[in-house]
Amino acid sequence: MKRKYYLTTPLYYVNDIPHIGHAYTTIAADVLARYKKMMGFDVYFLTGTDEHGHKIWLAAEDKKETTQKFVDKMAEGFKTAWRTLDIAYDDFLRTTENRHEQVVQAVFSKLMEQGDIYKGEYEGWYCVPCESFWSEMDFIDGKNCPDCGRATEILKEETYFFKLAKYQDKLLKHFEANPDFLQPLSRKNEILQFIKRGLKDLSVTRTAFPWGVGVPGDSKHVVYVWFDALLNYISALGYPDDEKFKQYWPADVQLMGKEIVRFHAVIWPAILMALNIPLPKKIFGHGWWTVEGKKMSKSRGNVVDPLVLSDGFGVDPIRYFLLREVPFGSDGDFSMASFIKRYNSDLANDIGNLLNRTLTMIDLYFQSEIQNSICDTQFDALSIALVGLTKETPKVVDQHMNNLAFAAALAAIWKLINKANKYIEDETPWKMAKAGETVKLQAVMSNLYDVLQTTALLVSPFMPATAESMRLQLGVKGKINKGQPLFPRLQK
Ligand code: MSP
Repeated sequence: MKRKYYLTTPLYYVNDIPHIGHAYTTIAADVLARYKKMMGFDVYFLTGTDEHGHKIWLAAEDKKETTQKFVDKMAEGFKTAWRTLDIAYDDFLRTTENRHEQVVQAVFSKLMEQGDIYKGEYEGWYCVPCESFWSEMDFIDGKNCPDCGRATEILKEETYFFKLAKYQDKLLKHFEANPDFLQPLSRKNEILQFIKRGLKDLSVTRTAFPWGVGVPGDSKHVVYVWFDALLNYISALGYPDDEKFKQYWPADVQLMGKEIVRFHAVIWPAILMALNIPLPKKIFGHGWWTVEGKKMSKSRGNVVDPLVLSDGFGVDPIRYFLLREVPFGSDGDFSMASFIKRYNSDLANDIGNLLNRTLTMIDLYFQSEIQNSICDTQFDALSIALVGLTKETPKVVDQHMNNLAFAAALAAIWKLINKANKYIEDETPWKMAKAGETVKLQAVMSNLYDVLQTTALLVSPFMPATAESMRLQLGVKGKINKGQPLFPRLQK
């Protein structure tokens, strides 16, 4: 039986079009999903869109469209973006789908029945212009509205509460017993401090606007957008009765940006505890991208659209850049200069040239035919080292991938690529050709061919189209098929 691997991205809000921040999480998840599939796992990769809540309702009003029409159009935009960026998800869940709303209502009723949700009065911080209540969880800057930045004021409203405080100790115990539950470590420390400061029951319904899942039996209220959206991770699997749920839950890893770790590491596990189902095995909060040193925002007009970028440079260089430039837990900066630099050095020079030079030589010296078996014949220390590294690299990559260390995995692949380029310079095969040292020349070509095959395999989760092109050029049964350069150099 194949081992299962269930991974998720957050569901993106549809008040905005996808940008490289959204693409980052989704590409990372796609790379991981493809890698695990390649390693023989039965993978289920879920993404989707978060379509309820005040923000979205207002965004639709702003566009003078019906809310449903607006969210339909915006969700389509995410699907198109992911198609273009070669994202091979297994499921795309929209929170306005019936299959999801039903689960939200069923969970709400169940938690009401067992006393984990109760009706009360909410006294909280309210942003008048946005008509939104905010909780401690939402604040970024003092008590200012996280949406518009204006001061909030105290207001009272009837609401339903989820008994979050009740789960405080259980949560702390879970963190203690499962040291890898939340990564990276810095985020975990932050969350532990937050929990230890004391959790309050959470208001999980709203009455100020109508756009949400209706509270069963109380039509004045809609379910709070986070309570609604978090449930997607199980509703997509058909919780509670579907086979899929039994097969894939608990999630093996849930990816997200650092700003929403609190929701996933506190509220989400508490809901799961209340439902008495296992918690995800791992939650990972990655860093944030700035653009040319500045926070990305619509008002600044510096939002990077991955589709525009891919039109100009191709999809794989974007996928590569985002995962190579910074370690997955750290913040990063996207600048055109650093993008072009990496494109030219890592892609055009390193991997592109290695393929090109090697295939040119195999063409020239052996009429496009490579004798695979020769690679065991090692003549010198250089060959022994290269063959050794070719065998070693997949193991190193596997370790890094299991730690979600994408940049380190790529660095390990590029160590092999660079070693192979150096090998060509050190072995000087053109001299062997001139001297008629055919057997030795054949071994050198065969060693390089092996490096390229291994490389094609290892880069395939990161750059699927590039890997495919490499495979075509490397051919079958030792008959190569040299094609266009993988990455034509960019002029700066
Ligand atoms: N709808 C919620 C999530 C609900 S999950 C049950 C939400 N949506 S969002 O549209 O704001 O998307 C947030 C996610 O987009 C972040 O967690 C992160 O994955 C990604 N990013 C958005 N901007 C980003 C950057 N500037 N940099 C990196 N990732 C960022 O929150």
